[in-house]
Amino acid sequence: MKIAMIGTGYVGLVSGACFADFGHEVVCVDKDELKIKRLLKNEIPIYEPGLDVLVAGNQTVGRLSFTTDLPSAVKGADAVFIAVGTPSRRGDGHADLSYVYAAAEEVAKAADGYVVVVTKSTVPVCTGDEVERIVREARPDLKIDVASNPEFLREGSAIEDFKRPDRVVIGVENEKAREVMRLLYRPLFINETPLLFTRRRTAELTKYAANAFLATKISFINEIADLCEKTGADVQDVARGIGLDRRIGSKFLHAGPGFGGSCFPKDTLALVRTAEQFEAPTRIVEAVMQVNDARKGRMADRIIEACGGSLQGRTVAVLGVAFKPQTDDMREAPSIDIVGRLKAAGATVKAYDPAAMGEAKKIDAFAGVVWCNSSYEAMAGADALAILTEWNEFRALDLGRVRRLLTAPVIVDLRNIYTLEEMREKGFTYVSVGRPA
Ligand code: UGA
Repeated sequence: MKIAMIGTGYVGLVSGACFADFGHEVVCVDKDELKIKRLLKNEIPIYEPGLDVLVAGNQTVGRLSFTTDLPSAVKGADAVFIAVGTPSRRGDGHADLSYVYAAAEEVAKAADGYVVVVTKSTVPVCTGDEVERIVREARPDLKIDVASNPEFLREGSAIEDFKRPDRVVIGVENEKAREVMRLLYRPLFINETPLLFTRRRTAELTKYAANAFLATKISFINEIADLCEKTGADVQDVARGIGLDRRIGSKFLHAGPGFGGSCFPKDTLALVRTAEQFEAPTRIVEAVMQVNDARKGRMADRIIEACGGSLQGRTVAVLGVAFKPQTDDMREAPSIDIVGRLKAAGATVKAYDPAAMGEAKKIDAFAGVVWCNSSYEAMAGADALAILTEWNEFRALDLGRVRRLLTAPVIVDLRNIYTLEEMREKGFTYVSVGRPA
């Protein structure tokens, strides 16, 4: 099968490379010439484990290619995926669909035969209807179908998630488009991955419902963590205790500083806006967002309190700034609020992250942060250590060395990666999330 992938962001690049690895012929398109030049040299613009090998391997054998020339990529394609950004629209929080619609029109104008235009970008329910209208208006002479195929991959484990997903959701309106989509995903189908075919609007809404539900689990357990702290219960045991009930499930019940990233904050807001528009408000999701927004600031207060209530003239070592491990993505990272507040409270912040420092340096909230080359460099001479992201290398710190490097034995662990026992044994004042102090 021949595929054109429009947009080489996270979803487009990973999906393109994985489809090529399935054996399809994939051309990835982007308007950014520099990005395409780099990709042609196998230089990957994002940090994603395994992506470099996958891109280079498939490019070498000729199944994967990159271009800025959209019309040439679309000609002869069986399916064209639209995987461009759908950021929050300034002012109202609706998903900004201008890139999706512009791509749909360009694709339709370039098409030279039957093709399925597939939205892979996260788009609000009913967007496919408008894409179809645009496509039909641009090319009344051609038969073009519009499908929805939302992507559920996570940053940091994107390739594994794409190649071994729990399910693939595909929204189509007729049998012909369904057959094209089935052939594209045949390698997964053979592996018995559930391929869920639905109507198009259903597939679009499924994506938002999935992200909103996962975000709900996180805000829920974060509120339970607050209650645990007041009552002396342990949120990790509570999470285990409820998660073993298969109706609840154990995933996404890790209490922490709140969810960030390029998806949950944006998608919960967009869902709330869509629901308002259709007069079917999603009040639970509204509450999820409020709980999450309020949480980030409170996490900074926790660090200030652990330091005795004042950070004037104090130094805080921060480990991890990315919104989660295995990524350099800083979008909506809780660290942005937390570090900003620490600085405003008078602290000097020394920070280290294995991948995200380059991105963090571009963000105003981090101005004046002393960037370090290792965890130990960050904590040398600091008055407290705060762990904001659960990178594996922070899980095995030499605690004796940590104790010697810090001027005071204070650790605030917002990801609960150490046990209370080991911290007590080593003599640390240890503050974590939802567990007894
Ligand atoms: C999320 C979804 O998990 C993917 O299925 C979806 O495809 C993607 O959004 C998207 O829509 O593109 P991602 O944003 O990469 O993926 O990251 P997650 O692993 O879901 O983590 C999101 C945030 O929730 C992070 O800040 C993480 O620290 C936080 N989190 C996650 C918790 O605080 N507790 C948990 O138990 C799990």
